[in-house]
Amino acid sequence: MSKPFYITTAIDYVNGQPHLGHAYEKIITDVISRARRSFGQEVFYLTGLDEHGQKVQQAAQADGKTPQDYCDGLAADWQAFAQKLELTNNDFVRTTSTRHKQFVQAILTKLQIAGEFYQKTYEGFYSAKEETFLTEKDRHPDGTFDTSYGEVVKIQENNYWFKLKAHQRWLIDYIESNPSFVQPDYRRNEVLGFLKNNELEDLCISRPLARLNWGIPLPFDKDYVTYVWFDALVNYITVPANMGDKTLLALFPNLQPSTSQLQPALWPADIHVIGKDILKFHAVYWPIMLKAMGLPLPKQILVHGWWQKDGSKMSKSTGNVVDPVAIINKWGVDAFRFYVVRELAIGPDGNWTDSGFKSRYSAELANGLGNLVNRALSMLKRYRNGIVPARHDELAPDAAKVVAATQALLQESDLQGALQSIWQLVNRANQYVDQTKPFSLAKDPAQSQRLDEVLYNLVESCRVLAILLCPFIPGTATKIYTQLALTGLPDKFSAATWGGLQAGQTIGDPAPLFPRKDV
Ligand code: MSP
Repeated sequence: MSKPFYITTAIDYVNGQPHLGHAYEKIITDVISRARRSFGQEVFYLTGLDEHGQKVQQAAQADGKTPQDYCDGLAADWQAFAQKLELTNNDFVRTTSTRHKQFVQAILTKLQIAGEFYQKTYEGFYSAKEETFLTEKDRHPDGTFDTSYGEVVKIQENNYWFKLKAHQRWLIDYIESNPSFVQPDYRRNEVLGFLKNNELEDLCISRPLARLNWGIPLPFDKDYVTYVWFDALVNYITVPANMGDKTLLALFPNLQPSTSQLQPALWPADIHVIGKDILKFHAVYWPIMLKAMGLPLPKQILVHGWWQKDGSKMSKSTGNVVDPVAIINKWGVDAFRFYVVRELAIGPDGNWTDSGFKSRYSAELANGLGNLVNRALSMLKRYRNGIVPARHDELAPDAAKVVAATQALLQESDLQGALQSIWQLVNRANQYVDQTKPFSLAKDPAQSQRLDEVLYNLVESCRVLAILLCPFIPGTATKIYTQLALTGLPDKFSAATWGGLQAGQTIGDPAPLFPRKDV
């Protein structure tokens, strides 16, 4: 059996409620997952929560809770959020789970024995907000640090350090000879620029208990917990190991997977989907950690941009946020999923405006897709009692072109491009209604044959569209299938071949897919 396609998202800090940025990343990963499944590939989609570290400890304190109680409460909200977005994740990892903590400790033990760590006392600037040491390079000319680091304090501390420096050369070579490893290209160039122009600093992988206790204890020194990023990155292999992934268990034979049946390998991941702010962790630290463990690297790190609202950074304190749940409750989950994928390609930054959302809803969903499906099905009902006429292939070449282009774009994870491609068929079919004027044909008995042809082309286009749209807006795609009275789900790409609707079939009742709202 071939290896399942393994795709992950960043795991979110559990120190507040999810917002648009978190939702976006999880949705694009879901669309890629659903598309691959539709192609017949087995997919494993992993998402979850990053629960350790100072930020969470402080948030729990402010809330008057123990960190674990605080995390448990919020984890329930985040899992409910994943359902609200209709994600098809196969597991949800929490870094406070036993399986994860044990695995992080097994890795630390292995790397400690291999001599990858050393202890040293370091004096320097520390940002608690970013949980990281800062260097002179991070300072503005006037000696201050960027406000994004929050309060920066000078500390002197003894810690464990991971020998990153030694890995610089091969990593540059690897990224240079594997162009698809970091995508888009400008993000890859950013990593290469960083690696070529800076000497890598070793990475501090511990925090003294005296300063931070909300972390995974170092297995070889009880006075320390693990640096939250070292802990968090491991989530990507925790779950495969727990499932009995052979590649991982060969390296960590003492681990007890949750199953006695060894699974075909999941690792290496096919795609890690992340935001641009955490590129260094994924394209520098993580490959080096894996190399030190003797594990293969992920095949791709796919980096998306950041959303702003109305041209400025989203921020709870100024109230400048987009609440995905409120949008979904008002407009439906598919309208939200559609908008974020259609509006923003994976790469650049995006900007949410309420007016932009409403105008895509009304132009593309209500008037474009919704109107097409409603007109096609209503006319078939009215003029032919809902019975599908004989097959006719006038729009077949247009559909075939769109199907092939969409498949190629989905293979490349170009989701925005795929939606643009699908809308070529939506627009073509709407234009076809205007050109052929079935409502006029219906008035002329001599045009009965022509009306049959036109109606077949329209309803068959709707069926094909349901399949193409299923990864993006699965609820709507299913509604189209139900209205066509088709059994099963529109979740197999191979069914998008023209001619699926059989003459003589009776369709169901049309109902608006995207009711017009008072905007
Ligand atoms: N916990 C770390 C990730 C560890 S992965 C091993 C973290 N968490 S986070 O909650 O701050 O961010 C989670 C993801 O959401 C990141 O990929 C981040 O880029 C993304 N986003 C957070 N805000 C965002 C926007 N405003 N827009 C788009 N994505 C953004 O970093």
